[in-house]
Amino acid sequence: MDVLTGIGDMQVRAERDRLAGKTVGVVPTMGALHEGHLSLIRAARSACDVVTVTIFVNPKQFGPEEDFNSYPRIFDRDLSACENEEVDVVFAPEAGDMYPEGFSTKVAVSGLTTLWEGEARPGHFDGVTTVVTKLFAITKPHRAYFGQKDAQQVAVVRRMVRDLNFDLEIIVCPIVREADGLAMSSRNVYLLPDERQEALALFRSLKKAEELVASGVRKSLDILEGMKQLLTDTEIRKRDYIAIVNPDTMEPVETLEPGQPVLVAVAARVGATRLIDNTIVTLAE
Ligand code: PAF
Repeated sequence: MDVLTGIGDMQVRAERDRLAGKTVGVVPTMGALHEGHLSLIRAARSACDVVTVTIFVNPKQFGPEEDFNSYPRIFDRDLSACENEEVDVVFAPEAGDMYPEGFSTKVAVSGLTTLWEGEARPGHFDGVTTVVTKLFAITKPHRAYFGQKDAQQVAVVRRMVRDLNFDLEIIVCPIVREADGLAMSSRNVYLLPDERQEALALFRSLKKAEELVASGVRKSLDILEGMKQLLTDTEIRKRDYIAIVNPDTMEPVETLEPGQPVLVAVAARVGATRLIDNTIVTLAE
């Protein structure tokens, strides 16, 4: 496995692989790899000749009050995990090389970035689309792998790829959960033992939504009411949002229609930790 930090070195390596006719798959990450990331790496490994994992805690996607400084950084463990998954290249650039003095470009998707996560975390998606554009330009993937856990990020990146004609395919892999349902997240390490239990309410609220739909409820307001009830009955009172939306546009959906998938998304604070989770629900036609 090659570990590259230089942008030029990564570009040369990626170009060489492409010229050799190899399919390049990239898994962009901020490190602190868990089973969710490993599922992306495995999906890339099974479909691509060359698998590149990027590890970069991107300062531009954190707000001033957010956890950039405390974000878990366990580089050596991440490298071992990548080695175990037979990753070919780890690209781990320095922030100063990614954003040198005078860096003055921003890639921004409008509209869907102002809703939900975008409203709770102003500027977050501009940071994501800027770094993802740079990572694509540096690692030159045919396929890039993202997790469904960050559903709005998926919608935003897909929109950017479509709007800017990036010549690559976005592959989205399902959420990976702990045995009790908690969605895997690098931020779960912040949870104290009792908060870890409270955090399960997010998953339960999504299950509640699925149950309500299965029992015939079609109006989003009624589904959201059931979810709110469940979250209020538990300790989760600091909800950022719960939403039932079109997964591509992130616009609210009023009534579920057969064959039209909707994204049910929740974001809440458990103790000091902000967690997100979601499920896609599709009524049978
Ligand atoms: O999902 C993440 O870990 C990050 O937002 C990404 C895509 C690696 C960009 O920094």
